[in-house]
Order: sequence, then C-alpha cells, then structure tokens
Amino acid sequence: MKTRLALFLLPVVLLVGAGSLFVMQKQSTDPVITVYKTSTCGCCRAWVRHVREAGFEVVAHDVADLGAVKRRHGIPRRLSSCHTALLGDYVIEGHVPAEVVKKLWAELPDVKGITVPGMPIGSPGMEGPNPQPYDVLTFDDAGNTAVFVSVVPD
Ligand code: CU
Ligand code: CU
Repeated sequence: MKTRLALFLLPVVLLVGAGSLFVMQKQSTDPVITVYKTSTCGCCRAWVRHVREAGFEVVAHDVADLGAVKRRHGIPRRLSSCHTALLGDYVIEGHVPAEVVKKLWAELPDVKGITVPGMPIGSPGMEGPNPQPYDVLTFDDAGNTAVFVSVVPD
C-alpha cells in the first residue's frame, strides 16, 4: 500500500518540482532590461550588446530627450551617464557591468537603482586604452549613494 501511494505521488512531486524550476528560471535568468538611449550613441549600443551577451533580454528605445527620461526616474545630474535602463523597479544608469546587474537582481537591495556616473574608460561599452577603476553606486530617492561594487577593469 505504501509503495503504491509513493508511486502515485512521485509524478506529482516531479511536476511541482519542474514547475517551480520553470518559475525560478523565468524570474532569474530572463529579466528584461529596457534601455533609453539616443540613436547616435555608439557606447550605448556597445553596452546593449554587452548585457545581451551576458544573457539579458534587452528592449532598446531611441529617444530624442534623454534628460526627460532621467528627470522622470529621478536621476540627479551628478549621478547620470549616457543611457538609462530599467530592470523591474530598478534604474540602471550608464555603463554598469552585466555581472553587477546580476548581483542587483540576485540581492534585490532596497535602493532606487545603481549607476556608474560619467563614462569611465574601461567600463563595458567604453573599452579603450588606459582603463580606470570606477565604482558602481547605489542611490535612493533622496540622492544618497553608497558604493555597491568597486571595479578594476583588466
Ligand atoms: Cu556611454
Ligand atoms: Cu550609453
């Protein structure tokens, strides 16, 4: 009797297990990043390629007024860069490495978003000679920042 019950339950357990795996995959490996950029920005295009290659699905929009996008999402000028991206409720500003975006998505910190202010040489999409170390900062609604990850490009 016991084995028959176990045999009966096994497919149910397998089904539930497979179902939750599917849900987990949907949430953690296929997040969609929406990018706002200008059509002429080459480094923005390069960053889009970088996050796509890292496995993210990316929907990119060319807009005429990026300043309006930044104002709408409360990104102070001193924290801003070229393109602005959205992932869930998070703002991802500038040339943030895909690995750091994955860390954000895994840890889900209570912040408004993350940013690499300016466009440091050596960040993804800004490859060039003499790469420089830079910080990825978290920021909140009040504009408070904290270092999320310090990056030393190789
Ligand atoms: Cu750029
Ligand atoms: Cu850009």
